Amino acid sequence: MGRKGKTPIRHYVVALLCATAFCACSEDEIRVNDTPGGSMPSAGTATVYNIGVSAYDTPAPWVTGDLLRRFNAGDVLYDRNRGTEGGKGPLYAGSSCGSCHSNAGRTLPSMYTADSGSGTMGFSSQLVYITKQNGGFFRNYGRVLHDQVIKGEKAEGKLKAWFTEETFAFPDGETYRLQTPHYQITGWYADSIKPEDLIIDVHIPLRHVGMGQIMALDHDELRRIAAQSNYPEYGISGRLSTITERNKQYVGTGGNKAHHADLTVELGFSSDLGVTSDRYPLEVCEGQSQNIGYSHYGIQITTREMEDVDLYLSCLGVPARRNADDPAVQRGEAAFNAARCQLCHTPTLHTRQDAPVLLNGTRLPWLCNQVIHPYSDFLLHDMGKGLDNHVRPGSAYSYEWRTTPLWGVGLQQTVNSHTRFLHDGRARNLIEAIMWHDGEGAVSRELFRRMSKQERDDLIVFLNSL
Ligand code: HEC
Ligand code: HEC
Repeated sequence: MGRKGKTPIRHYVVALLCATAFCACSEDEIRVNDTPGGSMPSAGTATVYNIGVSAYDTPAPWVTGDLLRRFNAGDVLYDRNRGTEGGKGPLYAGSSCGSCHSNAGRTLPSMYTADSGSGTMGFSSQLVYITKQNGGFFRNYGRVLHDQVIKGEKAEGKLKAWFTEETFAFPDGETYRLQTPHYQITGWYADSIKPEDLIIDVHIPLRHVGMGQIMALDHDELRRIAAQSNYPEYGISGRLSTITERNKQYVGTGGNKAHHADLTVELGFSSDLGVTSDRYPLEVCEGQSQNIGYSHYGIQITTREMEDVDLYLSCLGVPARRNADDPAVQRGEAAFNAARCQLCHTPTLHTRQDAPVLLNGTRLPWLCNQVIHPYSDFLLHDMGKGLDNHVRPGSAYSYEWRTTPLWGVGLQQTVNSHTRFLHDGRARNLIEAIMWHDGEGAVSRELFRRMSKQERDDLIVFLNSL
């Protein structure tokens, strides 16, 4: 969604000679942006200076020519609202990728709008994961609850969400409130599952900021951070996520549990939209035997098309930091470091030397050898009891979460018109997000809690500059 094509700011063209043999950058002219005052590049040559509603949805400046054509094709496929003729369903969770990731960001889920307690919630942009207490899947349902259906079908069930709330105070008397979500599923399609055998885990979408850079991360650098930079004095010990698929091991850097090694485009089409592909030729409708073999339209998206979606995600620009020369932002950065936030929300990392490879083998050399500022170590950390979701996909324990990259966090209100944070959106603003930190994040939270009102305000101003 959003405006395509050129970024609104001036460009000048620089022929860049690439320093390494691995990188084919030298074959291409790379456009480097003029940096507006107070801005700081967040992702090297992929930085964009767009602070509007399409801040997350703007191509990197080097996306031109055929690359731009494919970027736009991928964007259209991503945002295309699929009807049944487009392959949607019979069961699905969203109508398009963009219905959950609007403007390449986080659509506000319906569980945070008025009638979420009724169990009759309409369209939702949350993903509802359902698991047995022993970690297994329910035979008739699979892993994700498909609460949307095409005409004539029955949904697997409907989520009901409600919240309890507690009030706390900072030492200077200012109060904050933390809201805990509670879930129930009503209207099961097949066997009614006993609440005591069921774990419901709800996630809100992530911002797509920096997807290409995340896939191009230098894994050796992350390994070094995990091995060396553990801080026993602050109770911090991050670890790298490894995923085993078909007997091969991958490093996981994507998703809230670092359980993805790729951009999950194929899985997204199959499981979230009900759109079949060569990789996933069967509709997702585990228990609904009348639908087995349902595929009126054959393969509904080709690998070539999915590669364009992959390319679209990988070539998104990363918004530059704003107001970096504002004294409040600079004081806030000092407070961020004083609270030791940077020990997990690592300000600077590097992308590796070899270019990332997309589904059909297309390489994106522009993503290699870049200095980036994601404000994440992409490691798993124990975040304590409050955030424990009681399930473990991939290698993460139920209380472990991947440090959420904070680049672009300050533009979420502009892009998606809400400030819901954390994996399930329970935090209504940045202060609540910080105050939910526990486990390895407890020392940081306490350092923040004991700061003066001025320091806390400055820290939030700094976060909003990211
Ligand atoms: C029903 C809502 C929904 C739909 C539809 C959906 N997603 Fe997502 N997506 C999510 C949620 C929720 C997450 C966060 C999962 C987690 O906790 O890791 C996510 C995560 C992702 C991520 C990982 C992000 C990161 O920062 O690591 C990618 C990439 C992604 N989705 C791509 C897609 C694509 C491509 C499509 C369309 C084919 C799609 N999604 C459709 C809800 C959705
Ligand atoms: C031990 C590592 C660690 C430390 C230290 C830490 N964080 Fe986090 N942070 C995380 C993890 C992991 C998450 C994701 C938790 C979740 O979604 O449930 C997170 C999430 C966040 C989010 C929510 C982002 C979003 O888009 O949803 C914000 C904001 C944040 N942290 C800010 C801070 C600040 C400010 C500090 C310092 C006061 C801090 N963090 C210290 C690991 C850490």
